[in-house]
Amino acid sequence: MNTPETATITIGDESYEFPLLVGSEGEVGIDIGQLRKLTGCITLDPGYGNTGSCTSAVTFVDGEKGILRHRGYPIEDLAANSSFIETAMLLIFGELPISSEREEFRTRLREQELLHEDLLHHFDGFPPNGQPMAILSAVVNSLSSYHPDLLDIQSDEEFRMAVAKIISKVRTIAAFSYRKSVGRPFMYPNPNLSYCSNFLHMMFSNPYTTYMPTPEAIRALSLFLIVHADHEQNCSCSTVRMVGSSQANLFASVSSGICALWGRLHGGANAAVIDMLDHLQAGDLSIKQYLELVKQKKMRLMGFGHRVYKNFDPRARILKSAAHNLIQNMDTQDDELIRIAQELEDAALNDDYFTSRKLYPNVDFYSGLILRALGIPVNMFPVMFAIGRMPGWIAHWYEEFCDPQLKIHRPRQVYIGKTTRQYIPIELR
Ligand code: ACO
Repeated sequence: MNTPETATITIGDESYEFPLLVGSEGEVGIDIGQLRKLTGCITLDPGYGNTGSCTSAVTFVDGEKGILRHRGYPIEDLAANSSFIETAMLLIFGELPISSEREEFRTRLREQELLHEDLLHHFDGFPPNGQPMAILSAVVNSLSSYHPDLLDIQSDEEFRMAVAKIISKVRTIAAFSYRKSVGRPFMYPNPNLSYCSNFLHMMFSNPYTTYMPTPEAIRALSLFLIVHADHEQNCSCSTVRMVGSSQANLFASVSSGICALWGRLHGGANAAVIDMLDHLQAGDLSIKQYLELVKQKKMRLMGFGHRVYKNFDPRARILKSAAHNLIQNMDTQDDELIRIAQELEDAALNDDYFTSRKLYPNVDFYSGLILRALGIPVNMFPVMFAIGRMPGWIAHWYEEFCDPQLKIHRPRQVYIGKTTRQYIPIELR
């Protein structure tokens, strides 16, 4: 059936026509831009499950079919063939780079990997056990004070410079926040190392020993970052776009994305998965008992379910196999955790409660196992997610920045509070 060009909304005796917008993958949106003007009504959609906040050419997700594509490229292809930096360039600049472009960008990243020495004092202001996520968002926001020339981007060159600073420095800031939390000296970046190796070096080398990650560890980290690179209008991306819509600068906007990512239902879920698996390993509850509590809605099966994916999350498949590849040759207790994760997944996927609600493993179900096997502590998990998601946030901020139709985001509400009341002096209340 051909998609009609308009949708009709009838309110009482009146009918109104609204244009339909068809996306390049056939998604249809009703453009209700004139709804309030014509009818006096607004739409109400708490959680925005039915609301398109923008048009976007960055990432396509089909949750029913389990499809995720960045700029048209399937995530499976990118995971198999690309690097995190190349995927970041694809998302941010719109195309896969040719060799010279990739080299030029890598050079920029190398040049930007140090932090201003004065910025290092900020780390001293946090308590020894300060939350790395709080440190990350604060220090990323502080970058704006060190680069006032990039607050009001006027050219492609300025944008590329801001991108290089954020993508490169976020990894240094993240590693330094970890070093601060464990009371170890900051390890300065090594420009001879790749993006992922350099991060692991800053995390785990010491002044007297150089950390040598295995190729499997570098590959697993790269895959982790690639699969987190963007996921269209999720909570943190929408936050970045919301903040950016006020024409806030790129540093401030992505730092707000870090805060949005922090919550348990978003970037905090991978840590919650490990917590859950640890409890199961400790024998506090059997898998069956745990799932019973979940079904009684006393708790949630963390790492399961997704607002958009109602079939499977393609990122979970990629990370599941990466977790197995990384952990199978390691002599760690993570072996046991991955076995429990597999049993839990099998049990849930054979249970009508989960299948009838279309609850499947999401990206977080296996990502925590990878991070843990890499030696990354649980309070750093959302920080790792933030490093991975940075290219997506930047791509969306820039798409909005370049939109000549951009309006400040300002949703409305249906007010359900008290109607007018007269002020009562305190002695009479
Ligand atoms: N465990 C048990 N039941 C669940 C779960 C879960 N993980 N997720 C959803 N449900 C149930 C709900 O209780 C609800 O049941 P009902 O119809 O009987 O009331 C039904 O499934 C629909 O759930 P909603 O909460 O409406 O789904 P929503 O789309 O709002 O939530 C979310 C999506 C937040 C991801 C949810 O599935 C969840 O809390 N998952 C666990 C946390 C998690 O893994 N988050 C990471 C998401 S991926 C990411 O951010 C990168």
